[in-house]
Amino acid sequence: MKKTILSNPWIYHNFVHLVTRRRRVIKEILSQEVTASGKERVLDLACGTGDFSPLFVVGSYVGVDLHEGYLRFARRNFGKTFAVMDSRCMGFKDDVFHGSICVGFFHHLTDQKTRLVLEELRRTLKNGGWGVIVELIHPISKYNLLGKLVEKLDQGNFTRYPEQYCSLFSEYFSVEKMYQRQSWPWDVGVFRLRCQKPLK
Ligand SMILES: C[S@@+](CC[C@H](N)C(=O)[O-])C[C@H]1O[C@@H](n2cnc3c(N)ncnc32)[C@H](O)[C@@H]1O
Repeated sequence: MKKTILSNPWIYHNFVHLVTRRRRVIKEILSQEVTASGKERVLDLACGTGDFSPLFVVGSYVGVDLHEGYLRFARRNFGKTFAVMDSRCMGFKDDVFHGSICVGFFHHLTDQKTRLVLEELRRTLKNGGWGVIVELIHPISKYNLLGKLVEKLDQGNFTRYPEQYCSLFSEYFSVEKMYQRQSWPWDVGVFRLRCQKPLK
């Protein structure tokens, strides 16, 4: 990922959210879609500054990201477990998580890298485990010119249509639910996945 002013955790955490409705909308979506009990172990893939960690209880949540600065910020502010890991090869055993959330990550990844992450996510989820993915999509309305501009300026070069994400996700998971949501100025796709593994 390119180094920019947004590599600064404080600027990333505060600026992006001050000028967009992103945080509020995504928290709303996650609260609706995630039905984890406090005892379930939940992985936050590419958690950034840990923005969504307050939705989970201490001890049940683990956030992973490649950016050490973001994770330092997250530890200081949210007091949860955060680990520097590449989501394509994480240091967890097989079948350890009941569920996973992932927000705004796959639009940074080629199809090939996306598949590596999905394979790793599948490995670490238990049979029957769930995933809730919220991802940047091309603007829903052709009149959303600001959305189009923001998509051009965004560091992720692989924004897709919901059906394209769905087709990649369904190579590894059952896609139980998919919808799109307007979230000024970005629009997002929401995907609820289920991990089904053959019995050992
Ligand atoms: C757009 S940010 C989203 C962060 C967070 N999920 C949120 O919504 O606030 C994308 C994140 O992916 C992380 N990232 C990029 N490549 C990664 C990789 N291979 N493994 C883990 N994290 C990665 C970046 O450091 C960055 O924090």
